[in-house]
Amino acid sequence: MHDLMSRASTRGILVAFEGIDGAGKTTQVKRLAGRLGEQGVPFVATKEPTDGSWGAKIRTSAQSGRMSAEDELQAFLHDRREHVATVIAPALAEGKVVVVDRYYLSTVAYQGARGLSPARLLRENAFAPPPDILIVLDIEPALGLQRIRQRGDRADLFEREDELHKAREIFRTLTVANLHVLDGTKEPAALSRHITTLLFDKLAVVAPER
Ligand code: TYD
Repeated sequence: MHDLMSRASTRGILVAFEGIDGAGKTTQVKRLAGRLGEQGVPFVATKEPTDGSWGAKIRTSAQSGRMSAEDELQAFLHDRREHVATVIAPALAEGKVVVVDRYYLSTVAYQGARGLSPARLLRENAFAPPPDILIVLDIEPALGLQRIRQRGDRADLFEREDELHKAREIFRTLTVANLHVLDGTKEPAALSRHITTLLFDKLAVVAPER
């Protein structure tokens, strides 16, 4: 059997969406999930921070007072370990497409913006399967914050403009595999077409029978 076909039966495709708050990740995850559903491709759409106990702890801290950078890092790592073990790895093992709204590059960018070393943060995440497609939606922090206000949300403690500038710079200057930095000011429909093409091109190679 062709190498890539045998890979399809043992491992799915992991697509991660990254970017600063208000970049449009959630909209694009929904659109991509819609396309996968229409095409009958087995998939799981998921997010970090998760709805588990570590995710809840992180969300509370975003409202009521942040943890130290180190404690925050440990909380995101606990949350991700659980997420990988219970959701991401099993779905990949079943050959599904896994679409994740934030993943370990958010740790590199956001905890990096708080002063931790990006190289160390990447190392700490070595347990997490690397994305086959990694989308960074890139926008100016001021625009992201404006979008957050427009949707009626109040910016939380993760969404301070100076930190978002630092996080954006880390996202833009990463040298990691399978990275696509896309202009988050583009029309959602145009972005969605671009992203769908990236994924379906990969699916055609990995699982030509679909
Ligand atoms: P967000 O995607 O806004 O989640 P929700 O909409 O459920 O509140 O994520 C919350 C914040 O967490 C966001 O500002 C980015 C931050 N974050 C990190 O700092 N490190 C990480 O590893 C992750 C996954 C998120």
